[in-house]
Order: sequence, then structure tokens, then C-alpha cells
Amino acid sequence: MITESAALTAADLHLLAEAGGRAPSLHNSQPWRFRPTPDRSGLEVHADPARAVPAVDPDGRAMHISIGAALFNLRVAAAHLGRDAAVRLLPAGEGAQPRAVVDLSAPVREKRPFGDLYPAVAARRSSRQPFANRDVPEAFVAEFITAAQAEGVTFTMLEEHGVRRVLALTSEAEDRIAADAAREAETRSWLRLEPSVDGIPLAALGSHDRDARVPMRGFTGHPPHPSTPAERFEALPQLATLATHFDGQADWLRTGQALERVWLLATAHGLRASVLHQAVEIPDTRWRLRDPAEGPGHVQLVLRVGYGPPGAATPRRPVEDVLDLREG
Ligand SMILES: Cc1cc2nc3c(=O)[nH]c(=O)nc-3n(C[C@H](O)[C@H](O)[C@H](O)COP(=O)(O)O)c2cc1C
Repeated sequence: MITESAALTAADLHLLAEAGGRAPSLHNSQPWRFRPTPDRSGLEVHADPARAVPAVDPDGRAMHISIGAALFNLRVAAAHLGRDAAVRLLPAGEGAQPRAVVDLSAPVREKRPFGDLYPAVAARRSSRQPFANRDVPEAFVAEFITAAQAEGVTFTMLEEHGVRRVLALTSEAEDRIAADAAREAETRSWLRLEPSVDGIPLAALGSHDRDARVPMRGFTGHPPHPSTPAERFEALPQLATLATHFDGQADWLRTGQALERVWLLATAHGLRASVLHQAVEIPDTRWRLRDPAEGPGHVQLVLRVGYGPPGAATPRRPVEDVLDLREG
């Protein structure tokens, strides 16, 4: 039975939706909606089909990763409110709504289940700026591996040969993406919503820059933006992959939760990160991203981590747009 005190207040709902909405998402599409459960003691997390990016993400993989990241933020915010978050992924099966239901009716069992990650929810940003030539400490890498594992996802920090392989595949994918007019048009339509990328006005960006992947090209052989000379970038970026054993919607939701868990931990440790998604957008470059020595598995995402300046804040939909308070 749900006690009255288990019901979420308007302020709780606002705080939860705001935290969820701060998650990273492909092209900042923010493809989520949050809806209180009928007894108001939890939240349903829905996909927002109006925010789909079908040319780049025809299967909704990136959409589910983004929603998973929002889900992890909800879990952190729930702990901040002193509530335990019991998550059921895809309660009605694949393809049906909602993507997850979070029961928040019980008090938090562990005082700080993830450490104190709540401040990192607001502080986290994509940083596409040059990073310093400074290694991510092994102890942090070990934490990221454990954090991702807790979400059912494998985090692998790549050795030099792996970094070079991933950069070559990213470069190849970038060229193929740039030649695809439908994708380019779709990307442009999302980026029109953003006046600049990391402080660089969109109008000043070259053709490859328009997809918000600017300085990554400093590593992949493309000429970097004139305001961001290649030599300012770290000599060899520190790249990690997030991979899952299977490749269904639940795996994508888990990947998003692992991504955000690692990213918030990294933020709390003073590290920056950004996503390199190009190579996973094309089936054959995605397949070749796997480390053959690691055996089967599906690479879901490439993450660049390191020390450097923070990225610029990006806009978010107002809470009223993502929090669905309609009855029924
Ligand atoms: C599935 C997914 C794919 C992404 N792909 C890229 C990418 O290829 N390049 C990039 O620079 N950022 C990428 N991002 C980061 C988003 O652009 C970023 O999260 C969004 O613009 C919001 O900005 P913020 O992370 O600073 O809050 C991706 C994020 C997600 C969740």
C-alpha cells in the first residue's frame, strides 16, 4: 500500500524531471518524457517520438542510450530526495511504452548509493576542447569499470593500438556520413537549435564541423577548425568503449545508464569527457570497432576522457515540456 508520504510532491517531480532532462543525448535531441505513475509514487520514462533522429539513428539505439542516461540521472536525483529507485526496464516488452518505470515509494536503503553524484548532474558537459597530455589515473579507470559493470556494461580503456584503430574507423565513418545528404540535412535541422558548439558560432564552422563533432577531427586526419589548431590537442586521446553482450533495447538503456554513471563519476573527479559516435552509426564500422581479442560483443559508444576545459552549457527543454502531468 502506498502511504501518502510516498507520493511525490510537485517540487519532487520538478527536481526529478530537471535532473533527468540534463542528460546527454544525440544532437541534444532530449528524446524523453517523464510521467508520474498513477499513485504518484514513481515515474514512467517514455520516449518522445517527436524527438527521434531517424536518418542517423534508424533503430532508436542512440535514443535509448539517451533515455538510459536520463534514467540514471533520475536515480541520482531520487537518492538526493532520500528515495530508493527500483527500476524496471521495458515493463511492457520491446517496442511498447514506457521505456522504464521507476518505483520511488521506498526510502533510500543506502545513504549515498552512488557516492555524492547529484552535484555532477548539473556540472557535467560534453567538452570537445583540447585536453592536456595527462593520463587518467588508473584508480579512476578501475572505478569506471566497476560503475559500468554495475549497470551490466563493459567499460574498456583502450591501449594505443586500440585508440588508433578507433580513430581510423571514426575518420572513415565521418567521410561516409558527410557524403550522405539525408543525414547531413537531419543533423543541420537539429543544430539549427544550437547557436554554437563549445562557444564557436555554427556559422564559423566548416562542413564537417556542423555536426557538433568539431575538434575530434583534430585526431582523425581531417583539417581541424582554424581556431582550434591540431597541435593544441592531446597527442593521443584517451578513449574508452562501452560494450554489451547483446544488442537489444534493454542493452541500449543499460548503456545509457552506464555512460551517465561513468560521466558523472568522471565529472566529480575533475575529468572531462565527450562522445565519438560516428563509427557506431554505420553497421560495418561499428562491427570493426570491436577488439577481436575481446570476443563477441557490441560496441555501443566511444568516450573520450581527460583533463581540460569544461564544455559550454547547452540548452534544455523546459521542465513543463518533459514532465507530463496529464491525468489518465
Ligand atoms: C548517443 C549519443 C551520441 C552522441 N554523439 C556525439 C558525437 O558523435 N559527437 C559529439 O561531439 N557529441 C555527441 N554526443 C553528445 C551530445 O552532443 C551532447 O550530450 C548534447 O549536445 C548535450 O550537451 P551536453 O553533453 O554538454 O549536456 C552524443 C551523446 C549521446 C547520448
